[in-house]
Amino acid sequence: MERFDSTFFDAPQDRRGTGSIKYGTPPAGAPADVIPLWVADMDFPSPPPVAQALRRAADQRIFGYTAVDNGYWETLRAWYSRRMGWAPEADWLLPIPGVLAGVSAAVRALTAPGEAVLLCQPVYYPFARIITGCGRTLRVSPLHLEGVRYVFDFDDIEKQLSREDCKVFLLCSPHNPVARVWTREELEKLAELCLRHGVTLLSDEIHADLVHAPHRHVPLSSLSPEAAARSVTAMAPTKTFNMAGLPCAHLIVPDPDLRRRISAMCWASGQGGWGVASLAAARAAYGQGEAWLEGLLAYLRDNRELLYRSFPAGAPIACLPVEGTYLAWLDCRGLGLDDEALHDLFLKKAGVWLDDGTMFGAGGEGFMRLNFACQRATLAEAVRRIRTAAGMA
Ligand SMILES: Cc1ncc(COP(=O)(O)O)c(C=O)c1O
Repeated sequence: MERFDSTFFDAPQDRRGTGSIKYGTPPAGAPADVIPLWVADMDFPSPPPVAQALRRAADQRIFGYTAVDNGYWETLRAWYSRRMGWAPEADWLLPIPGVLAGVSAAVRALTAPGEAVLLCQPVYYPFARIITGCGRTLRVSPLHLEGVRYVFDFDDIEKQLSREDCKVFLLCSPHNPVARVWTREELEKLAELCLRHGVTLLSDEIHADLVHAPHRHVPLSSLSPEAAARSVTAMAPTKTFNMAGLPCAHLIVPDPDLRRRISAMCWASGQGGWGVASLAAARAAYGQGEAWLEGLLAYLRDNRELLYRSFPAGAPIACLPVEGTYLAWLDCRGLGLDDEALHDLFLKKAGVWLDDGTMFGAGGEGFMRLNFACQRATLAEAVRRIRTAAGMA
């Protein structure tokens, strides 16, 4: 049996010329040998059963419309039950091509044009684009950095939820980019406030499987029957198993009325389900990918340790604790640079392509997001370049 130890994840992969966005054309001014550590996919092969399942699917030679069957949902339910202590019912699940497609459909189904969606920034930037692009009002509550830990500002959240036109709270759990895994207490408080003000919780939990012990992911919908009835959860195998190029995700909507409205919106926008390849890959991933995932998490934790050692608290660049995800939020405020100079330092001087903190909205100034799901040798070289460019070497 294949072992998913560091030898597996250390193996170099050449992704150039594969159509990968990550390895596409870098921003102006990047050196030819720039190291891409930006968009959230990993430089590791997916679990081997995924490629085997895709080969078998290719052998069918006919690639017609495909239904997500009950056997698949049972596999998925067993996964959530084993790993999160949560067993969503099969009829709560809506297959969608991607999490963002589901977020967009839910926003449009649950709000009227002009009504407001509240979220906490800094946060995954496409959320704001979806809300404003759909003609809804974007409301922002700032996350607060207390020491090295981001927390919700519940007073501000409550104030904003109490406004008449606020209909949806869009949560990122675990949180991209600040890498928090929200605790049960935090989620309970948030759910209580949303329930009190009649606001529906839309919870993007795409990073749910990428959580580092002792932290544990708590699905929002698992908190209580009341929270479940007022929540919509988006999940997917794509981040977990590194298959974002195979469109597949699910919305989990326990309440029949919310589910009907969102399903109708998916139809209204002509949004289809999954294709042959996505289903084959997702089934193999959840059915046979668990040992690979455990190996991945161990490897990611060692990469995280390298970042902690290289960018310790109090240094001009400090890596904040990464409780979940493979995205490190680097506090670069100690360098005293403005955001343009910070961008240039990383991209042009160090030759490392990260996402600028400002992309993630308010509170992102002075931060950079680094994707550390790459071979350790690559990460070590990126770290060396950044430390040298920042005068930390
Ligand atoms: C929080 C979050 N949601 C959604 C997505 C994208 O999901 P999808 O590709 O399924 O639309 C990402 C990708 O980085 C993400 O980090």
